[in-house]
Amino acid sequence: MTKSVVITGASSGIGAALAHEFANRGYNIALCARRTEKLESLKNTLTERHSQLQIITSALDVNELDTVPTVLNELKQTLGNIDIVIANAGITGVRRTGNGDLTKDKQILQTNLFGAIATIDAAVAIFRQQGFGQIVGISSFSAFRGIPGSAAYSASKAALTNYLQAVGTELYKKKDINVTAIHPGFIRTEIDENIEKFPFVIDADVAAKTMANAIEKGKSDIVVPSWPWALLRNVMPKLPESVIAKIF
Ligand SMILES: NC(=O)c1ccc[n+]([C@@H]2O[C@H](COP(=O)([O-])OP(=O)(O)OC[C@H]3O[C@@H](n4cnc5c(N)ncnc54)[C@H](OP(=O)(O)O)[C@@H]3O)[C@@H](O)[C@H]2O)c1
Repeated sequence: MTKSVVITGASSGIGAALAHEFANRGYNIALCARRTEKLESLKNTLTERHSQLQIITSALDVNELDTVPTVLNELKQTLGNIDIVIANAGITGVRRTGNGDLTKDKQILQTNLFGAIATIDAAVAIFRQQGFGQIVGISSFSAFRGIPGSAAYSASKAALTNYLQAVGTELYKKKDINVTAIHPGFIRTEIDENIEKFPFVIDADVAAKTMANAIEKGKSDIVVPSWPWALLRNVMPKLPESVIAKIF
C-alpha cells in the first residue's frame, strides 16, 4: 500500500521541499497551510510529475487549534491511513526585549508551540487508533541555546523539542509509533530574507533530503545539516554570551 505523509506549512520553504522529496519517494501527500493558492500550485506541479500519487490540499491555520484534529481526520478519511505527520508550520520574528510589546512573542508561541502541539496531539490520536505512524516536529538549532533578538522563537523551539521528547517517551512501548525531532540550522526559505548573513546556509531541497532519510530511518532526533550543527549543539550551551552575541 502506498504510504502517505501530511505536512503542515507546505506552501513554501522546508514544507514544500519535503513535499517534493516525499513525492519522489513514492508517498501520497497532503499539503496544509493558509495560502491555498500556493498549495494548489504545488499540488499541480506534483501531480504532473507523479500522476500515480494522490496529492491533496487542505486549508489549515494551526492557530485555530480546534480545527487541527478535524482537518487531520478528514485527510485520513481521504488517504486511508496516515503514515507520517510533519508539524512544520512556523513563523519567526525579531524583537528587542523590553519594548513592552508582546504581540509578536504571543504569535510566535501560538504558532510554533501551540499550533505544533495541536498537530502532534491530533496525529497521536490517529496513530493510537490505527496502531502505527510517525510524528515529526520541525524544531530549530535555537532550541539548544537562546538566540539574541529571537528570544520568543528560541523559547518556542526549545519547548517544542522538550514536548516531542516527552511524547516519544509516552509512546515508547508502542513500537510502531515513532517521534522525530528535527533541528535545522540555517535553511534558505521565505522565513528570513536576511538568511545569507548567517553561516552554513543550505538550500531547502538539500535539507529535505537529509530530513526524509532520517524520518524513514525512524531517528528520534537529528540536526540538519549535521556539519557543523551536531558539534555546535554540544558547544553552544557552553559558549560565553559575548561569543553568541557576536555570531548572531
Ligand atoms: N529556514 C530556516 O533557517 C529554519 C531554521 C530552523 C527551523 N526552521 C523551521 O522550519 C519550519 C518551516 O519554516 P521555513 O523556513 O520553511 O519558512 P517558510 O518558507 O516561511 O514556511 C513557513 C510555513 O509555515 C506556514 N505557516 C505559518 N503560520 C501558519 C499557520 N498559522 N497555520 C498554518 N501554516 C502556517 C506557512 O504557510 P502559510 O503562510 O501559507 O500558512 C509556510 O508554509 C518552521 O517551523 C521554522 O521555524 C526554519
